[in-house]
Amino acid sequence: MDVLRLASLLDELPPERTRLLDNLGRLRREVGPITPELSDALADRMNLRRGDVHEVVSFYSFLQVPVDAVRVCTGPVCDCAGSRGLVAGGAIEVPCLGHCDLAPVVLHGDDVEGGVTHSTNGFLLEPDELLRPRELSQDEVLELLEASGLTGMGGAGFPTWRKWDAVRREPGPRVVIVNADEGEPGTIKDRYVMELRPQLLLEGVEAAMRFCETDGAYVYLREEYATARARLREAIAARGLPVEVVVGAGAYICGEETAMLESMEGRRGMPRLKPPFPTQSGYLGRPTLINNVETFAHVALVLRGARQPTRLWSVTGAVARPGCYEAPLDVTPRTLIDDYAGGLTAEPGALVPGGAASGILPPAALDTPLTDEALAEWGCAVGSAALQVFPVTYPVQRLLAETMRFFAEESCQKCTPCRIGNRALHAVFAGERTMEREKLDEWLEAMALTSICGLGQAAPTPVRNAAAHWPELFERMHA
Ligand SMILES: Cc1cc2nc3c(=O)[nH]c(=O)nc-3n(C[C@H](O)[C@H](O)[C@H](O)COP(=O)(O)O)c2cc1C
Ligand code: SF4
Repeated sequence: MDVLRLASLLDELPPERTRLLDNLGRLRREVGPITPELSDALADRMNLRRGDVHEVVSFYSFLQVPVDAVRVCTGPVCDCAGSRGLVAGGAIEVPCLGHCDLAPVVLHGDDVEGGVTHSTNGFLLEPDELLRPRELSQDEVLELLEASGLTGMGGAGFPTWRKWDAVRREPGPRVVIVNADEGEPGTIKDRYVMELRPQLLLEGVEAAMRFCETDGAYVYLREEYATARARLREAIAARGLPVEVVVGAGAYICGEETAMLESMEGRRGMPRLKPPFPTQSGYLGRPTLINNVETFAHVALVLRGARQPTRLWSVTGAVARPGCYEAPLDVTPRTLIDDYAGGLTAEPGALVPGGAASGILPPAALDTPLTDEALAEWGCAVGSAALQVFPVTYPVQRLLAETMRFFAEESCQKCTPCRIGNRALHAVFAGERTMEREKLDEWLEAMALTSICGLGQAAPTPVRNAAAHWPELFERMHA
């Protein structure tokens, strides 16, 4: 691009700091990977310190990568499907690309190799009756949400009505944000909602905007979801809603709600200490309601009237039809595999119930309901409801090594236990170092108790599960 064209493009870019990520994304698309020179030019244009912009650029995986790069997923499901063999010269390894139903996944620029397909049971989240939602008062909304028992689908399972009630108690102006960062390995359900049911999602968002008495909302969307991005933008335009889509740049940690706020404010996506919670002080210090994509879709259904509670299960790995299936909240892995996903394709060796930090289950748990209560007995949680089935031929030690590699690569590096702990655990399970069992337990405890956010706090879970269910692995490792 010639100097004049670059100067006029820079002039077009909005100078507000909240637009930094967006501006960087635009420069990357229209000029090329963000070089130090481009970063400085943008900093000057936006009247920001050059060092601040460099910091942001280096934080995100994709800003320095060409838009047409070939990206190969090396998340556990793709690794198990042999994706590392696809990493040819020039291709970039990415810890999870969010298309685990199509494993092994390769992206050419925005395009998924082989094309995006969907495997579901019926029309996901179909309302019982096709009534337009009626206007409800804030109290009525809260009553319906409370009676429905709806809890957050993003992983933490916080009661939705409580969050809505908390944000209502704070003075306006309030902000509504949809968490569409979906980075948890194995989790594809939000992509299915955005690709197949964007209007239902927006109906929930519209209800939240009315409830919060705000006239604008944001969707923070992961960069790799090009089909979802297009369908969502189309649906927003068709509905005439003032909803802005903010596109991420390849940082899993930005799915953590306070890291997302930092990212949207034009800084590195590093989690904030809580409290204050986003409901109290969120985007630009305003009371902010952040819910997951699927949560908003359920809100729309709840506000339309009674319906049996369900959730969307991402089912991937050694099953005949990997995909996203709507099933009851207490479904078992066996039912999901046999009745929804077409049955096993290999003898199962390990199950992951809901994202990397949810834990690892032995095949003996196949008939355990996938609820937090039942899984607590196995030391696991349901997390983002992403059942990953690993065949017995995929060693549990490798699953652990890959899981810890994921955490190590995606840690924001802010706190020491998470920064060095995940790296050390990866090295242990990759066979690069040994650690006495007692020492290992100390590290796990330090990480769980002293990390700032859920990433470092929950990273020990799969290791502890493995120690309980595959003790022989640990004896071998520390001999
Ligand atoms: C490391 C980490 C990553 C997260 N990633 C996501 C994510 O990709 N999508 C999501 O909705 N929530 C994610 N969360 C949870 C959010 O912080 C937050 O709890 C959620 O968006 C709230 O919405 P909900 O109550 O509707 O689930 C993550 C949390 C942590 C600790
Ligand atoms: S626990 Fe890890 S990801 Fe979370 S704030 Fe600390 S270093 Fe960052």
